[in-house]
Formats: sequence, C-alpha cells, structure tokens
Amino acid sequence: MIHMHVYDALVVGGGGAGLAAALHLTRGGGVRAAVVSKLYPTRSHTGAAQGGIGAALGNLEEDSPEWHAFDTVKGSDYLGDQDAIELMCAEAPEVIIELEHMGLPFSRTDDGRIAQRRFGGHTHHFGQGPVRRSCYAADRTGHMILQTLYQQCIKHQVTFYDEFQVLDLVLGESGVAGVVAYEIRTGELHVFRAKAVLFATGGFGRMFSVSSNAYAFTGDGPAICWRRGVPLEDLEFFQFHPTGIYKLGILITEGVRGEGGILLNRDGERFMERYAPTMKDLASRDVVSRAIYLEVREGRGIEGKDFVHLDATHLGREVIEQKLPDIADFCRTYLGLDPAQRPIPIQPTAHYAMGGIPTDVDGRVVVDERNTVLPGLYAAGECACVSVHGANRLGTNSLLDLVVFGRRAGRHMAEYCRAAELPPLPGDAAEPTVATVQRLLEKGDEPAARIREEMQHTMMDFVGVFREDAGLRSATAKLRELADRYARVRVQDKGKWFNTDLMEVWELGALLDIARVTTACALNRTESRGAQSREDHPKRDDQNWLKHTLAYWREDGEVEIRYKPVVVTKWQPKERVY
Ligand code: FUM
Repeated sequence: MIHMHVYDALVVGGGGAGLAAALHLTRGGGVRAAVVSKLYPTRSHTGAAQGGIGAALGNLEEDSPEWHAFDTVKGSDYLGDQDAIELMCAEAPEVIIELEHMGLPFSRTDDGRIAQRRFGGHTHHFGQGPVRRSCYAADRTGHMILQTLYQQCIKHQVTFYDEFQVLDLVLGESGVAGVVAYEIRTGELHVFRAKAVLFATGGFGRMFSVSSNAYAFTGDGPAICWRRGVPLEDLEFFQFHPTGIYKLGILITEGVRGEGGILLNRDGERFMERYAPTMKDLASRDVVSRAIYLEVREGRGIEGKDFVHLDATHLGREVIEQKLPDIADFCRTYLGLDPAQRPIPIQPTAHYAMGGIPTDVDGRVVVDERNTVLPGLYAAGECACVSVHGANRLGTNSLLDLVVFGRRAGRHMAEYCRAAELPPLPGDAAEPTVATVQRLLEKGDEPAARIREEMQHTMMDFVGVFREDAGLRSATAKLRELADRYARVRVQDKGKWFNTDLMEVWELGALLDIARVTTACALNRTESRGAQSREDHPKRDDQNWLKHTLAYWREDGEVEIRYKPVVVTKWQPKERVY
C-alpha cells in the first residue's frame, strides 16, 4: 500500500538547516509544512557541532562583519562567491540575537554578554591576528541550536515525519511535485505531494574511512537530486578537520586550540609556527591538516605513527571542564585519558563537504551556469552549495550558514507557496522507488559491508588530504568496480519492520554515486586550492581555475563537467598566508 499526503512545502532532513527553514516557513502562517527526516530531529548531526557559530558581535574586542567576510573569502581560497559571503556575515549578528531570544543558552562573559572564542582563520583588521568571533555554548553549540530550533518548530506546529527515509524526488512538467519516502518502522512507501521541497540532508563524510560524521551522513539529498538531473557544485572540495581522535575520527573541537591548545610533533615541537607564523595553530583547516600530514610523512608523527598531539594540559582543569566539558568526556570515554593531564592523539578526519546542490542566496536550486532556477526545489545547510565556503570552510561558518540560509530559504519558500498552485503529480510517481526497493531486496551475493569498506579506504587513500593524477585514476577505476558489484549487492533482511539493513544498502548506493562524482571533479581540477591539494599541480591557478565546477549525470554513467563563474565583489585573489 502506498500512502498519499499533500502539503504546501516539505523539508527533507531535521537538522539545523531543515529546522530553521521549517520554522520560518510556518511562522508567518498560511503554509502547511512538514519535515520528513530519517532520524529523530534532535539526533541530527548538527548536534555534533561543537565549538561555536561565527558572528562579528565584537563582545570581547573590536570586530566587524567586513573582517568576517574577508576572512571567509580568504579561507575559501577565493573560490567562495563574495556577494553571498558578505550577506551571510552581515546577517550573522542578527541571527545570533534571534537564537538568543529563542532561548539558546550561550556561554556568557563576566558581564553577561554572549561569550566568544578564537577559531581558525578568523582575524581582526583583515588578517592581523586572531579575533574572538565564535559564539559558543561550551562545546555543545550545535546541540543547543538543534534543541532550540526544534522547540520553536513544535511551538509553531510544524508536522514531523520522523524515521522516514526519502528515496526519490518527484518532478512534474514545470518543476517540483513532491518526494517519495520509505517509512522505516513499517516498510511502507509514502508519496508526499507539495509545491516546494527543500533538501537539508547534511553531508557525506561517510565515504571516507576516518570521519567525524554521523553514520547518517550518506549524501542522500545530493544523490537523489543528481539522479534527477540536478548538477552538483564543487564536490572536489572536501574538508578534513585537523583534530579527530586518532583512528576513530571523532571530532575534537577547534575550540580547544581557540582556548589556547597547541599541536606538537614527536619532538615536542609546536610545528604550526613553521607553517603559519602569524596564526600558528589557528590557521585555516586545510593548512593545518596538510601540516599534520607533512609532519607524519617526514617521520615526526608521535612514536613514528600517523598522528600528532593536541596539547591542552596547560589550560588547566577549570577551563577544560567549564568550556570544553564534552571534549573532556570524549577523551575519558574513548581514550581513557584526562586532557588536563595528557595530550590528545589526533589525526585529520573527514569533516565537511564544501560542495553540494547549487543554490542562490534564497536556497533556490539552480541548475546551470546562468543560475536558472528549478521551480519549487530548494536546498540548505551542508548538502547545499551557495557557495559561501568555496574551497575551504572556516570553522563556525557551517552553523552560521545553516541558520542564515535555512532561514532565508524558509522565508522564500513560504512566499513561493502562497503564490504557486499545487502541481499535478505524475501518475507513476512512486514507480521508480518501488522498483529500486524490489531490486535491492532481490537475491544478491555481494556483502554491502565489503563494498563500503573498500570505498572508504579508496577515498581516504586517493581522494583525501593530498591527491595526484595516478591515485585519482586508480580511485576512479576502483569506484567503477564497486558500482558494478553494488548492482549485485545483498540485503540480508527481507522483512518490512525496521529494515535498517535495506536502508543502509540504499545509503551505500548514494555514497558510491557521490564518491564517484567527487573523484571525477578532483581529477578534473588540475590545480591546488583550499582542500583540493594536488601534489602534481601544487599551485593555485587563478588564470584557468577561478571557477566553480558543475557536475552532471550522464546516461552512459560518466560525469559531465561544466563551469560557473565565481562572484568577486571586493577582494581580488591574493596569495594566501596565515
Ligand atoms: O571544531 C569544531 O568545533 C567544528 C566546528 C565547525 O566545523 O564549524
């Protein structure tokens, strides 16, 4: 049986971006909106964001949205669109105050203002040294944002479909017509008809073997859109956060370095002084992650292994327990160590997708280099590419991105829904999904776990912090082989109730698609910029590559690449030094 629902607007994903959009969709009244999420919203990965949200409040020292915008442009290695960046940084103080008024329990200065800390790449006076710009709630900032927005959504009577996995986007003749979802509890399909759909499904760090990302981060929204002909923008730029717990990848917030923590190699040397003389440990993430890899490669990893130390022992127990309590807990739980007494073993961990579904500043999905809008389709948060992060995101700008652009998308969708008619639903809307589910449940002989593991190691080894032609080509061949094997994948659980096996296999298909596009884009871009570090093309090449990649699905299984210009308003590209 297939269930039918009708709404004005649907939000796919219950993380920060989805909730911000849902809230602003419904707040003005007159729009029937629902959130369809594969998780309970408060378990979304926004909850794992730790160290803060960026805004030039200037609570502890002079700051300005213009400095914030400059830092973001420079952090992006000049690939971010400067009009969108200026807008995000200008709206930042307002969204922070709005969150505060909704009840978000920010940490406080002694005189009661929102507390702020240093973070990588954030500077005063256009690069003169670190500034305290990250507004935080201890090291649980994302968690607090998620709880606050969820409470507001409940207050504004947003309808939630929790544990519904969206499997397809339905397009009508003139744009979006709805989505098809699988109810995880019952195994039944639901068709949601709507005037507008927003994807806010988060990232896809699970394509790597060491990642800070939740298991749920499998690129669902981008994969669904890609299969429906929507291009993906700048997928070659995937951020490795410098400080993940060694081997586990669990995030140790940059807030530790923001509070004064430092990175040490096997000689006890604070090696970031050599790589970034001004910002040192608070250089941008691409710079710090590369430095750690180089230290390890040159034999200066701790005990000759592939990790270094993050030392916070000099901060003192009080600072650690008050400002970084979750980090202290993670260290005790996963490493059996007390960070007030011993340094933390860390390595770079796959963290954040700068690229994604291309949108304008109102969250509308655009499908070509002329920014042609696909009517009714929206995206926000990590799965989207506005592009405010360009080739490398600054820490604290992901929470900012999702609140600013989630809010803008929600408001725009509300207007769109008030003006638009409900589009007719194609008669066969659910057919492709029925066929996909049936095919996956048929007898197969390839264990999904093996395919997943091989994909993750391939991506880590060849499409990670450093890349080069031969490795990217061998990754391309391997991913093709894995896609062939995936066609014979085995789902062991043939039942209907809570068939998480089936859902994980479907998610693996999404990851394989996104891994293939990421690799194709990384191979295609023959320069080094931000998180794309090509050892065979070590220089940034503004002459040929100051442009966004748009990757399109092709019938024959290949990835077609086109380009879109970067918007430059005030800041011409310059050499990037920290
Ligand atoms: O280090 C962190 O707390 C992560 C923040 C972010 O990715 O913005």
